[in-house]
Order: sequence, then C-alpha cells, then structure tokens
Amino acid sequence: MKKPIVKKELQGSLGEYRWEMTEDGSYTLFSEHFEESCHSHAGALEETLYNYIEGCEILPIVKNKGKIHIFELGFGTGLGMSATWDYLRVALHAGESSPTLHFTSCEIDYELAHHFLKEAVDKGMLQNLNFDDSLRIFTAEFSSFKKGSQLTVIIGDIRERITYWQSSSLYTYTGPVDAIYQDAFSPKRCPRLWTYEWFSQLASISHATTKMATYSSTKAVWKAMVKAGWAVRTVQGYGSKKLSTRASRDGECPQEIIDLMERSPVEYLRD
Ligand SMILES: C[S@@+](CC[C@H](N)C(=O)[O-])C[C@H]1O[C@@H](n2cnc3c(N)ncnc32)[C@H](O)[C@@H]1O
Repeated sequence: MKKPIVKKELQGSLGEYRWEMTEDGSYTLFSEHFEESCHSHAGALEETLYNYIEGCEILPIVKNKGKIHIFELGFGTGLGMSATWDYLRVALHAGESSPTLHFTSCEIDYELAHHFLKEAVDKGMLQNLNFDDSLRIFTAEFSSFKKGSQLTVIIGDIRERITYWQSSSLYTYTGPVDAIYQDAFSPKRCPRLWTYEWFSQLASISHATTKMATYSSTKAVWKAMVKAGWAVRTVQGYGSKKLSTRASRDGECPQEIIDLMERSPVEYLRD
C-alpha cells in the first residue's frame, strides 16, 4: 500500500510555515506570521494557471514578442515561477530555439526563497543560482529557454526595494515588465501592497500594453488601480471567489465597473 506523503513544516526567517493539500492535489503553504495561506484551497496549481498564467495572457505575449518579462509579488513556494516555466515549456515545445523568459519576483522571507530556489535547481529548472549579499538579490538562469533567460528574486520589503532594483543593471538588462502577477497576501494582512502608491510603482516598471492579474476584487483595490492609471475589468473568480480582477495599461474600464465604483462609498486604498 502506498504511504501518504507527509510534508514537513518549514522554518522561514519570519516564522513557521505548514503545508496544506488543496483540492486539485497540489500543495500550498500557510504562513504563521501572516496567518494566511499562499493559495486558494480549491487548488494551488489550478489557481496559478487560471489567475496568473491565463489571466495575464502569457502565451499570446510570448508568441507575439518572442520573449516575456514577468513580475510577481511574491515568490512564496515558487509555484508561480515553476508553473509558468512548465506551462511555457510544454506549450512551446521549448528547446534550442526557445524564447527568452525573464521572471522577476520578490520575497520578504529570505529562508523561504532560498529553500524553494535550491529545490528548483535540484529539479533542473534553474542553474547558476547566486545570492549577491550587497544587493540582497538572487539571480539564476532558466534551463530550457533561450540562453540569458533570467530569474531575479528581490529579497526584503518590495515597497522599499523596487526602486533599487529599477535603477540596477538587472533592470536595464530585462527592461520593463509585460505581465504582473499581483499575488500578495490579502489587503487585510499586507495593506501596503494594495495601495494607489504601490500600483503607481507597478505602473513605473510597465509599458503601454502591460497586463496585471490578481485574485482580489474589492472596490477599494479597483479604485487604487484606476487612480494609478490601470484599466480594470473583472472575470469569474477561482474557487470560492465570485470575481477576480484583470488590469492593463491600455484600454478602458467597462462602463459597469465604472458604475459599480461610482456607487460605492469606499475610498481607494492608500499608504
Ligand atoms: C500569497 S504568497 C505568494 C505565493 C506565490 N506566488 C506562490 O506561487 O507560491 C505572498 C508572498 O509574499 C511575501 N511577502 C509579504 N509581504 C511582502 C513584502 N512586503 N515584500 C515582498 N514579499 C512579501 C510573503 O512572504 C509570501 O511568500
């Protein structure tokens, strides 16, 4: 008889994490520090595919440009990175003539990022993993994609670190981002990662057609995005969520979203 897999708890820099199995059979982590799980209990992998990979239209972007630069908030279990790598590899039959994949993420918990980055190296997804002590940034190269395809993980509070990265040679190398996985813990747990000021910072690393996707669909978040220059629309939510949000630098908000925001007395989120 097959023994059930028992996954050990993880000790991060910010406290303990425990594994939780989700309904699609993939795992998520619960953070004791933030008192929240990294993914929907309906399915960690399915949610990542639906909300971020399909939500940001990753495949059409790569097919159109022959390359992509994705920014993720935050790294967590590394599922956003590994699911994207795997999805593109299979969809594009990645090999010698593969496109360029740049993936930039951020993580406040050094130990957590280190753990999952080492695991990705062991699985053959990444090579030449390096941590620059003075920059406090991990870099690595993706296997199966065009030479020079780069992973960057910025360690620390991204609100403090983003401008530092933006003025570094790493950003000069990858350029602005084509897609943003806005996968922070909830506005209740991490309010400064959902504000007008944060969405303005994200706008500053974007270009005219950048897409952003998130699981959250509160009007205070929409209003903060719109004030920062993002056009907001909604799609069906994943799992127990009724709606989730898609945003872009081009286009306009549908009239029904404008009406819903106008009718709501809630203020946009700000620092
Ligand atoms: C919802 S989880 C991300 C899940 C991840 N995308 C995955 O696929 O596993 C949010 C992550 O953001 C990190 N985080 C929280 N506050 C942060 C901050 N201010 N700056 C950078 N990362 C932060 C948390 O430690 C956590 O790992």
